[in-house]
Amino acid sequence: MQDVVEQAANDLVGSRYAIVLTGAGISTESGLADFRGPQGIWTRDKQAEARAYQRYEMFLNDPGAYWEEMLSTVGTQSDFYGQMRKAEPNPGHRALARLEQMGIVKWTVTQNVDGLHEKAGSRRVMHYHGTVDKLRCISCGLRFGIDEVSLEKLPPLCRCGKPLKYDVVHFKEPIPSDIMEAAEEEASKCDLMLVCGTSAVVYPFAALPRIARRGGSGRSSMRIIEVNAEPTPLTHEGICDYLIEGKTGEILPAIAEAAASRLSQGRKRG
Ligand code: APR
Repeated sequence: MQDVVEQAANDLVGSRYAIVLTGAGISTESGLADFRGPQGIWTRDKQAEARAYQRYEMFLNDPGAYWEEMLSTVGTQSDFYGQMRKAEPNPGHRALARLEQMGIVKWTVTQNVDGLHEKAGSRRVMHYHGTVDKLRCISCGLRFGIDEVSLEKLPPLCRCGKPLKYDVVHFKEPIPSDIMEAAEEEASKCDLMLVCGTSAVVYPFAALPRIARRGGSGRSSMRIIEVNAEPTPLTHEGICDYLIEGKTGEILPAIAEAAASRLSQGRKRG
């Protein structure tokens, strides 16, 4: 394991423009279940997954009913948004924040809606599937902090008069174009992509490593490194250069530590 950790640290320190992609797997060590892992929410509860596939349509057809349903889980066992707001980052999140502070990681593009990257100290984070702390108008695109909007009268309305929904992107909902374009631009200009804690089966997010592999900047030096508890289609299809199999909360701190000692050795030599 140590060899591949050293190799990843070497690749990161040698990179010109590294970005990180993350999924629910990086937050399981913060006590938040993932979706498709062995203990995943969808793995354990197919009904919950079926309901999740209806959510966006429900908002389009009857935003009042959507809000009734979303608020009906508050304070219950299935209050996932509430659990996320209470969760704390783990060493995996903090290691990525450290790599950003070292100037190595330029952006973190996450599928997670839990806000744990920022809680860990990351500043340059793109929320590809939105966040639980905001509401969004799908008509004019405006976003509001959840504390800025009263939920006394449902559905809450945007300044443009249209109903607001959670900023979280539900199944079958288009990814907001500002985030989608920004993420694709980062994928096509990076020369290293670290993909952490995702099953890499949900599109269009799962296309980002493929865009990076195809993209523009001198592809021969392109490196795609996976850190995940199990192989994914990126591993099987050879999209990634190598997989470091294991827990992000253990592997990412080791990589960040090895990268830090490389940088300090470099500085001493310099
Ligand atoms: N360390 C490393 N890998 C882990 C860990 C861990 N501590 N815990 C779980 N994993 C792995 C799982 O084995 C699985 O391969 O992380 C992956 C998580 O995959 P998913 O549960 O599919 O989560 P994600 O890829 O983020 O799902 C994408 O699907 O349900 C929707 O909108 C939701 O954003 C989500 C999207």
